[in-house]
Amino acid sequence: MRIDLHLTPHQTDELALREKSVVVIDVLRACTSIAAALTNGAREIIPVDTVESAVKISGNLFGDVTLLGGERNGKMIEGFSLGNSPAEYSEERVRGKSIIFSSTNGAQAMVKARYARELFVCAFVNVSAVAAALRRNPRDFTVVCAGNNGMPSMEDSVCAGMLIAKMTDDAPFPVELTDGASAARALFKTYGRGILKMIKASDHGRYLLSIGFGDDLKTCAGVDTMPVLPQLDGTVIRLKREPAAKEPTDQPVTP
Ligand code: MLT
Repeated sequence: MRIDLHLTPHQTDELALREKSVVVIDVLRACTSIAAALTNGAREIIPVDTVESAVKISGNLFGDVTLLGGERNGKMIEGFSLGNSPAEYSEERVRGKSIIFSSTNGAQAMVKARYARELFVCAFVNVSAVAAALRRNPRDFTVVCAGNNGMPSMEDSVCAGMLIAKMTDDAPFPVELTDGASAARALFKTYGRGILKMIKASDHGRYLLSIGFGDDLKTCAGVDTMPVLPQLDGTVIRLKREPAAKEPTDQPVTP
């Protein structure tokens, strides 16, 4: 198995990902909110890159089962009913709903990687579920970190490193890492013992704290608190049901 990593989607050539397995990571906060929505019974999430596309798509769907969610500059978009706090994606709000979702970095990364042969959505909250799926069906994969406005982000890189450590530690198959993947694993070994502290010190973590979203940081720092496997199916993210076998990846990896 060969694992590659893109620190930002700017490195990603959408056609080059055709036929590849891809994991998109956006810890703060798109992938955490998507995991929360699916944990709480949302039917599906439709990631779109622009606000205009989100509004247009919602106009073609049934209003009572469709919600618009996402953010710009961390805040809810005018006319949308959900922002990008995982806490907003509660069972009362999202059960049975289709959510058209647009965020600054995470949704863009998903749209860019949409031609992948399979695409999983990952954050700390579901990292072991993603690792278990990849180990059950071992093949080369690329991690695409959403990053922060075109720049790498610490929290996505450390989460990628945790996923990669779960693939390499005690792997029953040979694993080759590119330099990017090795660097992320090294970052996890350095920062993995204090995930909340690392998130609070990160660029986007500090910004979210400054606009009043400190509680979201705690949610996003939780490891395996929402053990779901969101997978892109065409243009829509749904839960992939996997056997609930106990995997080595469910064990904590040592930073
Ligand atoms: C994004 O996709 O850029 C993020 O989820 C931003 C945010 O924290 O709302």
